[in-house]
Amino acid sequence: MSDDHQLRVSKIKSGTVIDHVVGGQALNVLAILGIDGSEGEEVSVGINVPSDRLARKDIVKVEGRELSQDEVDVLSLTAPDATINIVRDYDVVEKHRVDSPDVVEDVLSCPNPDCITAAGEPVTSRFEVLEDGVRCSYCGTIVRESIADLIDT
Ligand code: CTP
Ligand code: ZN
Repeated sequence: MSDDHQLRVSKIKSGTVIDHVVGGQALNVLAILGIDGSEGEEVSVGINVPSDRLARKDIVKVEGRELSQDEVDVLSLTAPDATINIVRDYDVVEKHRVDSPDVVEDVLSCPNPDCITAAGEPVTSRFEVLEDGVRCSYCGTIVRESIADLIDT
């Protein structure tokens, strides 16, 4: 364990480690996952920690919760190179990458003020995921940049 002296965030016993998150995106990752600690979840976050693969990375560790592939796929919007590690009894038992989902529901809000989703109606936001952005299923607005700014927090 040559790099133990560099460990910024303690290992977890069991749960999920979201590693190789683009530097500065960890709080968006938590917002997308709807994790804010209000349910007593044990969460550790490292922001802009040194990494071999990226210049700087963020890391999110959620104790006691194994995130499903569907849950982590929405992270592709803001953390496309993230590695998802499922940990049991201190060992990494599964490691996978995030995949782009076809659709994301109830994660982003539409920036178009005339969109029905902005009118206070009881509709759930829905965006189709394109190669290079997302498209609102209700009004067709396409967003290509700063998608993280649309995340419902
Ligand atoms: N980790 C953790 N708690 C554990 C086991 C692992 O927090 N009980 C974290 C490690 O600190 C690391 C990530 O989970 O950030 C992945 O662990 P591991 O696969 O052992 O590390 P690497 O081989 O360096 O992973 P990669 O090749 O994906 O960079
Ligand atoms: Zn819209």
